[in-house]
Amino acid sequence: MGKQRMIKRCSFGKKLPLRTAVMLIAALWVLSAAGAMADTKLMAVSDLHYLEPSLYRGSDYFLRALRRGDGKATQYGEELMAALYRTVLSERPDALIVTGDLAFNGEQLSHRALAEWFASVEEAGIPVWVIPGNHDINVSEPLGYGDGMVYRVDGTPPEVFAAVYADHLEMGEAGFSYAAKVSDELWVAMTDVAIYQDMAVTPGLFSSRHAAWLEGVLQEARKEGVRVVTATHHGLLAHTELYRDNFVMYGSESMASLCRAYGVKMNLSGHLHIQHIARDDGLADAALGAFCMWPHRYAVVTLREDGTLVYDAKALYGLFLPEGFPDRSREWFAGITADKAKAGLSGIGDEIEMMAEYAARFNLAYFSGTYRKDDPSWTDDPAYALWMSRGNNPFSKYMALVMSEETGDNLRLVIGE
Ligand SMILES: [Fe+2]
Repeated sequence: MGKQRMIKRCSFGKKLPLRTAVMLIAALWVLSAAGAMADTKLMAVSDLHYLEPSLYRGSDYFLRALRRGDGKATQYGEELMAALYRTVLSERPDALIVTGDLAFNGEQLSHRALAEWFASVEEAGIPVWVIPGNHDINVSEPLGYGDGMVYRVDGTPPEVFAAVYADHLEMGEAGFSYAAKVSDELWVAMTDVAIYQDMAVTPGLFSSRHAAWLEGVLQEARKEGVRVVTATHHGLLAHTELYRDNFVMYGSESMASLCRAYGVKMNLSGHLHIQHIARDDGLADAALGAFCMWPHRYAVVTLREDGTLVYDAKALYGLFLPEGFPDRSREWFAGITADKAKAGLSGIGDEIEMMAEYAARFNLAYFSGTYRKDDPSWTDDPAYALWMSRGNNPFSKYMALVMSEETGDNLRLVIGE
C-alpha cells in the first residue's frame, strides 16, 4: 500500500555512556512532549455530501430544494472543505478516513473535485482512505441545479469511482473493501457494504464475500499483533428504532460476530447523520454525525501506547471558518426543523412559535449527540407538554421515541486493551 507509517523502535539492552544516555533521555523527552511516541492517531469524517459548486452556484432553486431537505448545509461546501483542510493539518493524524456519501448524489464532477482535495491532504503528508456510501456509485439521477430547473449530469459507475479515487482505496473480493494499514499498531478494515444501485430504501449488505475477506484481514492482523478497527458506511449495530431497517446493514450479525471473535471492539460508521454511539456485548458502533450538517462533526481515534483506544467526536473549529459561520449553519438547520414542525401544527401563534423553537433545539441536540435523557430541562420545558398534548403529530411521536431510548455518552468512547 506504500503509505504505512514506519515507527522506529529503540533497544535499551546495552549500557550506554553517560553523555549518550543524557542525550538520549533529552531526545525522548522532546519526542514525548510532542506526542510523537508510538500513539496512532486516526481522523474520520463521514457524509460530506459534497456538490461541486458549478452544479449549483447562483441557483435559488437549489437553495429552496435544500431548505426542504434534512438539514444538509451543502451550499457551504467550499467553506467547510477549506476548514476541514486546516483542521486535518492542525490535528496531524496518521491517516484520514472517509466513511462514504462523499458526493451529494453521485455526481462524477463532485467526486473528481474531492479527489483533488484528498490529493492536497496527501501532499501535506497525511494519507486519505475512502469507502463509498449509498450516494456515491450508480445513483440514478445525479443532478445539476440551474435557474428554476435541474439537469442531468454524469454519474459514477464503479470503474470510474475506482479510477477517480485510485490513490485512496483498493478494489478486492468484496467491492472496495481493503485493510488501511495506518501504522504497525493499527489497521482499519475499510468495509464497503454499499449496494451499487439506486433504490427507494438504502440498506447496506455484509455478504459471505465480505465475511471471507474480513476474516482474512483479522487473521493476518492477529498474526502480526496489530489492533483492528472496522469502518463501514451503514451501521453495524442498531442505534435507534427510527428507520432501523434503512440504517443497519443486512448481515450485521455476521460482521458483529466476526468482530467479537477476533477482539475488534470499535466500528466507525456514518449514514445515520446523527452523532450516536451504540454499544452491545463488548462491541461499539460509533456513527459519526454528518460532516455536511451543523455542528460539522469529525472524530479522532487514538490508539495509545498502553493499548487504550479512545474515540472523540469533535466539531469543526470555529477559527478555521468564516466569521459568524457556526451560527449561520446552526440557524440553517434549526430553521429547516422549525419549518417542518410548524407545517404540522395549527392553533395559537405564540404557542406554535414556542413549540417550533423547542423542536429545533431538541432536534439539533439529538443530531449533534448532546441530547441526554437525564437532563430534566427537556421535560420541564412548557413546550414539551404542548407537544405531548398533540400525541398524533409526527414530531410528538419522534420526540417521544427518542426520549424513550437510553442515552449514553455519544461523543466519547474509551476502550481498554
Ligand atoms: Fe448514506
